[in-house]
Amino acid sequence: MKIGLIGCGNIGADLCIALQKGTIPAEIVALTDVDPARAKVLMRSFQLEAPVCDLEQNASMADFLVECASGDAVKDVVEAAMRHRIDCLIMSVGGLMANPELFQRARESAIQVHLPSGALCGLDGIRSAMEAGLHTVTLTTRKPPKGLAGAPYLAEHGIDLSNLQEPRVVFEGNALEAVKAFPQNVNVAASLSFAGIGPKETKVRIIADPDATTNIHEVVAEGAFGRLQTITENLPSPRNAKSSYLASLSACAHVRAAAVAFQAHAENVTNAASGG
Ligand SMILES: NC(=O)c1ccc[n+]([C@@H]2O[C@H](COP(=O)([O-])OP(=O)(O)OC[C@H]3O[C@@H](n4cnc5c(N)ncnc54)[C@H](O)[C@@H]3O)[C@@H](O)[C@H]2O)c1
Repeated sequence: MKIGLIGCGNIGADLCIALQKGTIPAEIVALTDVDPARAKVLMRSFQLEAPVCDLEQNASMADFLVECASGDAVKDVVEAAMRHRIDCLIMSVGGLMANPELFQRARESAIQVHLPSGALCGLDGIRSAMEAGLHTVTLTTRKPPKGLAGAPYLAEHGIDLSNLQEPRVVFEGNALEAVKAFPQNVNVAASLSFAGIGPKETKVRIIADPDATTNIHEVVAEGAFGRLQTITENLPSPRNAKSSYLASLSACAHVRAAAVAFQAHAENVTNAASGG
């Protein structure tokens, strides 16, 4: 499977490392980044035989697009995938919150927009439970105070976490409000919303905890199926302290599954053509 990579930062590098091991039947054939210098660094570091090019050229060379850039890139990437009738993986899931119509447009174009579980566990159970309906879904994110630094909500509400001695709930609201207040939390809240009852109904609590050493996401959901509770304690990515390693691993696992399915489909087409 030929991958067009959009976004050549931390997750892009982790994907290159996974592909280098040779156990995923896929290769990167084109690189796009708003900062071409970063794409060139990736190309050289991993000795990729892939041009650094714009999104349109990238999509024209690829069987599958992997977006790991930013929420701003999502609409363009999905639209390029639609134009070229190829599937895509969107890591910046929060970018779909601003463009929910893309789901319907992608369905009409008969392409698949793959959403990763990212830095969160339990989305399989949430999706299954939705078949019979969910009453409540709550995400509680617990982070060290420095992990929340710079969030617009803290500045707007004059919340100072510099000398915090004990855990403090700094935000309670729905997922839509949470992503505006704490943009760093956007992908986890968006993934949970899309898997379950949507951004307006999904509740989010954010706790600053001076004793926390990892970013912890707890999901509690109740519905006709019963109750589920998952806790994910995320270590940072080895290359980027701001990003959870599980998010990169989730990108690699999705690409692996997509590549295996692509390969099986290609073999079926070849067998059918040769009458085998
Ligand atoms: N789904 C999840 O759970 C999850 C978890 C972590 C990160 N993410 C998201 O994945 C994305 C990538 O994360 P990362 O850690 O690799 O980030 P990063 O900052 O290390 O790399 C992003 C790269 O994309 C490039 N870029 C930014 N905007 C772009 C655009 N509009 N078009 C093309 N290139 C652009 C940057 O120059 C950079 O090279 C981010 O949006 C991040 O929020 C999702």
